[in-house]
Amino acid sequence: MKSKNLLAAGRVPLFTWFLCGEPLSDCPSRAHLYCYRSEANDLALRLARQYTGHQDVVVLDHAYHGHLSSLIDISPYKFRYLDGQKEWVHVAPLPDTYRGPYREDHPNPAVAYANEVKRVVSNAQEKGRKIAAFFVESLPSVGGQIIPPAGYFSQVAEHIHRAGGVFVADEIQVGFGRVGKHFWAFQLQGEDFVPDIVTMGKSIGNGHPIACVATTQAVSRAFEATGVEYFNTFGGSPVSCAVGLAVLDVLEKERLQAHATCVGSFLMELLRQQKAKHPIIGDVRGVGLFIGVDLVQDEATRMPATQEADYVVTRLKENYILLSADGPGRNILKFKPPMCFSLDNAQLVVTKLDAILTDMEEKVRSCETLRLQRCSVKHPPEETHPTQILY
Ligand SMILES: Cc1ncc(COP(=O)(O)O)c(C=O)c1O
Repeated sequence: MKSKNLLAAGRVPLFTWFLCGEPLSDCPSRAHLYCYRSEANDLALRLARQYTGHQDVVVLDHAYHGHLSSLIDISPYKFRYLDGQKEWVHVAPLPDTYRGPYREDHPNPAVAYANEVKRVVSNAQEKGRKIAAFFVESLPSVGGQIIPPAGYFSQVAEHIHRAGGVFVADEIQVGFGRVGKHFWAFQLQGEDFVPDIVTMGKSIGNGHPIACVATTQAVSRAFEATGVEYFNTFGGSPVSCAVGLAVLDVLEKERLQAHATCVGSFLMELLRQQKAKHPIIGDVRGVGLFIGVDLVQDEATRMPATQEADYVVTRLKENYILLSADGPGRNILKFKPPMCFSLDNAQLVVTKLDAILTDMEEKVRSCETLRLQRCSVKHPPEETHPTQILY
């Protein structure tokens, strides 16, 4: 009885928030709470398969959806280095308008990239495969802080629905107001776009292990119809639900969504100034507190500056600033700080970044001078090798 009361104290309000809270009110109508984010994506996969009666999944290149075996299989970021691609997994190109096949000068990159998904689906169908789901991070992160062009998701959803599949939006990194303008990152795609399944994690518990899957009545009922209940010892624990509710309170009371817009815009502006100053910065892209700085060897070719990115990350770490570099070329500096990140924090990180890049450029310049001096003097052959960059 006591535990029932505890459940009522935590789980029900949190469910109610997801089902009736503004951001998801028109969309999924059932929510399930779990311990780990990977569990949420694994359940999304089961829900999609049960509902559609199909097995196959379309994912974006370089995606990551979690550490369970089922999710490694749909994460090119991981399976490329492990067992490889399973026959039931189909990979579409990242909708990357900076380095992908359709760039900022393309008249309609949303349609062009969605057509790539259509092509991948058709190829799979020609082999007799049936699509259960399209899994996508609403903003691909390990893919390189990609901002898919607006309208891409609805176009993709049309192709996936036509193939009998469902659209799964993984909001595990990017949900809960991080993008500032909206509570959910998929809303950047247009107010009329609604995924069939949304998975949430990380920020929902601010470090505490809690995750959630929200979906439609129809998908949820198809799962229930199996008669096999979903059982998870710690799923929906009242303690975790209390944490989830506390996080929602703080988000609301401290107006952290608006804060993400304000600090994010300031950070973007500072980083754009850095782009004008340092040729190694090829692109600065982002929304709210989800920003990528794309380091390039050459502005024209946009070749990833992988070693340089690694060097910058290490130097920042020496300054007690933790950033990582990701993307297929491991050259995109990823900014996704805690939501309490302040204007001062933004100024500090950019000042440090500026100092590191300036120092790097000076080292490269002195190496070039050294190389020129060496070339003008006749040296024995073993000394004429190009000087190594000193970092
Ligand atoms: C987009 C995305 N989905 C799923 C996961 C899996 O979350 P967890 O490691 O908490 O299971 C992660 C973790 O980094 C993630 O970034």
